[in-house]
Amino acid sequence: MIRCRGVEKSFSGKKVLSGIDMDIPEGKIFGLLGPSGAGKTTLIRIITGQLGYDAGSVNIFDREARELTRDDNKKIGIMMDDFGVYERFSCRDNLKVFADIYGTPYGKIDETLELVGLGDAAKKSASDLSKGMRARLQLARVFMHSPEILFLDEPTSGLDPRSQKAIHRIILDKKKEGRTIFLTTHNMEEAHALCDTVALLNEGHIVDTGAPDELCRKYDHKKTISIHLRSGESIELACGAESAERIGELMKSGSVETIHSSEPNLETVFLELTGKKLEEDDK
Ligand SMILES: Nc1ncnc2c1ncn2[C@@H]1O[C@H](COP(=O)(O)OP(=O)(O)OP(=O)(O)O)[C@@H](O)[C@H]1O
Ligand SMILES: [Mg+2]
Repeated sequence: MIRCRGVEKSFSGKKVLSGIDMDIPEGKIFGLLGPSGAGKTTLIRIITGQLGYDAGSVNIFDREARELTRDDNKKIGIMMDDFGVYERFSCRDNLKVFADIYGTPYGKIDETLELVGLGDAAKKSASDLSKGMRARLQLARVFMHSPEILFLDEPTSGLDPRSQKAIHRIILDKKKEGRTIFLTTHNMEEAHALCDTVALLNEGHIVDTGAPDELCRKYDHKKTISIHLRSGESIELACGAESAERIGELMKSGSVETIHSSEPNLETVFLELTGKKLEEDDK
């Protein structure tokens, strides 16, 4: 569905993307993870044909991104910053603007508002929405015209856990319908929960890519098993045959409260690969 090879991009002589290779298959959720300034939004703008690039190739729907047609653009939905929200318009009128642009039947407007849980807020001005409602309005706008690919640039940034969950549910529903989803995030839990594949972007380079679980196993250098006993004591054992007997004894004695393998999470993997955290501490 999307294929990038050796993509390079500089702004005023400063390189922001370098040697980007990516393949995004149809019907999957692909996550681009990276800290602020890594180049995530720039890459979305390039793939969606909003921004040119200096070298390499970018293909979407088997067409060069710079040459997307009006019909191709109808197959794409983009959620990015406050792009496309008319503050003084109601939720319904916001969607009406896009229904007119894309030739979507008006019947879809209320149906889509219901789908994102904004049925009761249809008449509310966009300026009066909470952050979570606003994000849902943006999502509604992105998929109302039934695009094949959704580009979601940090769709849950700054939202409370409940609103995040609501957005995750909508994203997973769109995947079930067979849509392809490209999302960016700083949030590794979100990436783990949603994405089939993630690419870790740091300073314009993809440092590794794969299924979240696969990446976590690949960088599991510690390979230990942590056991927490009912007595409150914690034990760490090597993850190998040498520990089998001890673990067996503990299990048989009924003293084990929890037992975990040492797999790192995506945050730890990113830290190991780049020396950097995905999320700022103050976030
Ligand atoms: N139009 C532009 N002109 C000059 N520099 C730019 C422009 N757009 C982006 N940059 C620079 O390119 C780099 C990557 O920016 P980008 O917005 O793609 O990062 P990001 O990964 O989306 O970050 P964030 O998580 O904060 O959204 C940054 O150093 C940024 O300052
Ligand atoms: Mg960005």
